Amino acid sequence: MTDSVLARHAVRSFKQDKLTSEEVDQLISAFQAAPCGMGQADVTQAVVIESDDMLQRFEKSVNDAAYGAPLLFVIATKADSQFGERNASVAAENVMVEATRLGLGSVYVMSAAMALQKDPDLIADLGIDDGYTPQVVVPVGHATEEIAANDRSDRYKVMRR
Ligand SMILES: Cc1cc2nc3c(=O)[nH]c(=O)nc-3n(C[C@H](O)[C@H](O)[C@H](O)COP(=O)(O)O)c2cc1C
Repeated sequence: MTDSVLARHAVRSFKQDKLTSEEVDQLISAFQAAPCGMGQADVTQAVVIESDDMLQRFEKSVNDAAYGAPLLFVIATKADSQFGERNASVAAENVMVEATRLGLGSVYVMSAAMALQKDPDLIADLGIDDGYTPQVVVPVGHATEEIAANDRSDRYKVMRR
């Protein structure tokens, strides 16, 4: 399947191989290209975690909710913005679709973001600005195994009029 939107699926088991610098750049470009409520760019920011020290500290803090991936996208938004969660979600999807295009696995993880919200020291050490709330974590890496495509063509109720 060549359509990255249709080929994307949740991956929760990762090899430890690091991503290349070019791959990380592509993921960041995809994040930057995401829709942005009323063009208010300062509502949203992201931390890309690649270092082993920080990855280990992060997984410990969130009780392994990021599945041991070799790279994490932590997307945070201004606490008082009506666009925050929406911006974070569309940006996460951009990152996941781009990861798929690059042959990488990913998953949208809300639980890790919620756990991180309870660790202000780690939030500060990640460089997330004061007043911003972690909303989504997107672990990215090479999947340990190929997951067979499942048919999601009937997932949601869709009306055509
Ligand atoms: C709002 C939201 C929250 C999610 N939170 C988690 C999570 O905390 N942990 C997790 O493993 N997957 C999480 N997921 C991924 C979903 O479980 C996954 O997308 C769903 O099972 C459908 O599978 P698919 O993405 O392969 O189509 C979340 C997805 C969304 C959209």
